[in-house]
Amino acid sequence: MKILITGGAGFIGSHVAETYLAEGHEVVIVDDLSTGRREQLPAQAVFYKLDIRSDGMDAILEKERPDVVSHHAAQKSIPKSVADPLHDSDVNITGTLRLLNSCVRYGVKRVIFASTGGALAGDSAAIPTPESAHPMLMSPYAVSKYAIEQYLRLYQLSHGLEFIALRYANVYGPRQMPDGECGVIPIFMRNAAAGISSTLYSYPDMPKGTTRDYVYIRDVCRANVSALSCEAGQVVNIGSGQELFIADIYEAVCQAMKLSLPLKRAGVRAGDLRRSALDCSKAASLLHWSAETQLPDGLQETAAWFYAS
Ligand SMILES: NC(=O)c1ccc[n+]([C@@H]2O[C@H](COP(=O)([O-])OP(=O)(O)OC[C@H]3O[C@@H](n4cnc5c(N)ncnc54)[C@H](O)[C@@H]3O)[C@@H](O)[C@H]2O)c1
Repeated sequence: MKILITGGAGFIGSHVAETYLAEGHEVVIVDDLSTGRREQLPAQAVFYKLDIRSDGMDAILEKERPDVVSHHAAQKSIPKSVADPLHDSDVNITGTLRLLNSCVRYGVKRVIFASTGGALAGDSAAIPTPESAHPMLMSPYAVSKYAIEQYLRLYQLSHGLEFIALRYANVYGPRQMPDGECGVIPIFMRNAAAGISSTLYSYPDMPKGTTRDYVYIRDVCRANVSALSCEAGQVVNIGSGQELFIADIYEAVCQAMKLSLPLKRAGVRAGDLRRSALDCSKAASLLHWSAETQLPDGLQETAAWFYAS
């Protein structure tokens, strides 16, 4: 199969690219290197440095004619989406719609979309949250990811463009950069290694901070392989199903790095959900997938990469 990955120079996209190549697929990557890095591109992949919003995307789809588009490029920061909703919607909604139109024009069979489970869960939802829960949409980022899930349904109905939306929990692992909401583990690692205390953003009634669901990158890559051939038209949670306090994650990171530093405390940031963990039973039935990596093992591998890089 030929697979075009947008955002393939980034954290998740570059691992997914390597996994697809190892499975014998052809991989084409489009990335503007805004947060991704050239050195993360697998050597066997064809690479185009381009913004997904540019007119040049159409020519790439016309030339490469991929069977599948794995869409990982995005404005991915919740705080930035709150500060600049127009930019968020320009990249995450308009940019994605332009991409979907090119997919229809050039005969792409399936789009795999990197959606979000954590940001869509909402504070009133049951924990762990199934895909069927009504999302609370607490940030422009959540609105844009949810909007694209709805557009994908429409495009499958009206143009026959198959889709799978993978609603990731908080993904962690080697190559993740310490930026934004998704990057709490690399932020903790960077600070701990530099001897700097990290900040715990918490609600007054949640002294151990908010809760999140963490899933290791290798497990996420397996889900992306299953998504190539599973039943189309599905939105599916990809997480561990475990609800963990951020303060406990911090402890686990310190253990993995064999360091000990106290946390500083601050109030929550705009768009921060109180609790989040995903019900991943649909992934088990649809993708025959479940998270296999235990947090201490994933953190050990991430810490080893951090010290080596
Ligand atoms: N990391 C997580 O925990 C997490 C959780 C839920 C969803 N996601 C989603 O997964 C995807 C990948 O996230 P990540 O953590 O690997 O982030 P990342 O920043 O490492 O990767 C995003 C990549 O997209 C590229 N990119 C950004 N805007 C672009 C544009 N306009 N044109 C072309 N390329 C562009 C960046 O250069 C980068 O290489 C995103 O869509 C994100 O919203 C991530």
